[in-house]
Amino acid sequence: MTTPATASSLFASLTGHDPEGLWSAPGRVNLIGEHTDYNDGFVLPFAIPQRTVAAVGRRDDDRIRVVSTFADEPVEVALDGLDDLFPTPAGEEPRVPEWAAYPLGVAWALRGTGVVGSGLDIAIASDVPVGAGLSSSAAIEGATASALNDLWAAGLDRTALARIGRKAENDAVGAPTGIMDQMASMLGEPDAAIFLDCRSLDAVPVPVGILEAGLAVLVIDTRVAHAHSTGGYRERRASCELGARMLGAESLRDVSVDDLDRARDLLDDVTFRRVRHVVTENQRVLDTVRTLREQGARAIGDLLVASHASMRDDFEISVPELDTAVDAAIGAGAIGARMTGGGFGGAAIALIERDEEGAVTEAVRAAFASSGFTPPVVFTVIPSAGAHRDS
Ligand code: GLA
Repeated sequence: MTTPATASSLFASLTGHDPEGLWSAPGRVNLIGEHTDYNDGFVLPFAIPQRTVAAVGRRDDDRIRVVSTFADEPVEVALDGLDDLFPTPAGEEPRVPEWAAYPLGVAWALRGTGVVGSGLDIAIASDVPVGAGLSSSAAIEGATASALNDLWAAGLDRTALARIGRKAENDAVGAPTGIMDQMASMLGEPDAAIFLDCRSLDAVPVPVGILEAGLAVLVIDTRVAHAHSTGGYRERRASCELGARMLGAESLRDVSVDDLDRARDLLDDVTFRRVRHVVTENQRVLDTVRTLREQGARAIGDLLVASHASMRDDFEISVPELDTAVDAAIGAGAIGARMTGGGFGGAAIALIERDEEGAVTEAVRAAFASSGFTPPVVFTVIPSAGAHRDS
């Protein structure tokens, strides 16, 4: 069954009738610009074909009920009761099952902006792999936010809906992320990456021309699951904030590559390396955008490789499986490769000649097998459309 059909039939078995509509939003990969979003910096993600679908209908009471293929049981609360559930205190688990905190968090965040609406039934199905660093969570938020925006006649634009999604992620789920994933999921476009300034939230589509150039982007899902509500992600964010404070900057966006010598004198070694990753990564995003425009995708390989090295050595968010994926892909002739997303597991991407897909995939599988790792899931993606109403 297709994902929209699954969402529809889940809705029908919950309610006994058809949904009023279907809304969907995609996952994303990030071409380059990692851990720069919450530092007010630059990112260059693109939406992928895998999507989450929300089948939604209004109720004639004030209850909200969510059901998903992720779980056996629906979760139901009164709309007024959302304020008792959220915000989730920092470092604690949500008071509802985590999957339900995403859609319920979106409803809570929207109501927090003064939007008023009736109760709802929401059924969610997805083909975005979960835990793979491909933003399955932003896809749930984007699909739900788009549905509620229409059914509650909120009239918000895509950027405002991305902010709603981030609020759900930060304050309902309790993951201290930036806004890249929600913006990519809301604003994705076929054939383009989204060059996003995370300070102004200006978003410019940058054509990547992957298909015309005979290239492909391979996703290598290491199957090492990650979570951003805990541990390393939070620590990295704290190090960046400390570094900015010690350098007298509002955020690391305001620190340039030329400031790094001074930073080395002022900061302890670990904080310095965290700062150096973010500062050089911002520059690499700018360089990638320029290179894409002037020379095309085949010329960005070295920037991708440098980004991975910076995350592995300075930001220390890679894992052996990600390094193996990147090294094996490059060894088999990939133009460039890097881990994508928050790190500590998840996926790597490799930019390859399309006719080398088989060879690169085989090389990655062989490298995983000889290291004794769980076999990776490998597939190609193309830049795809952002959130929309499907029917
Ligand atoms: C996760 C977060 C994003 C971003 C990336 C790292 O995907 O959700 O906000 O910080 O990690 O670039």
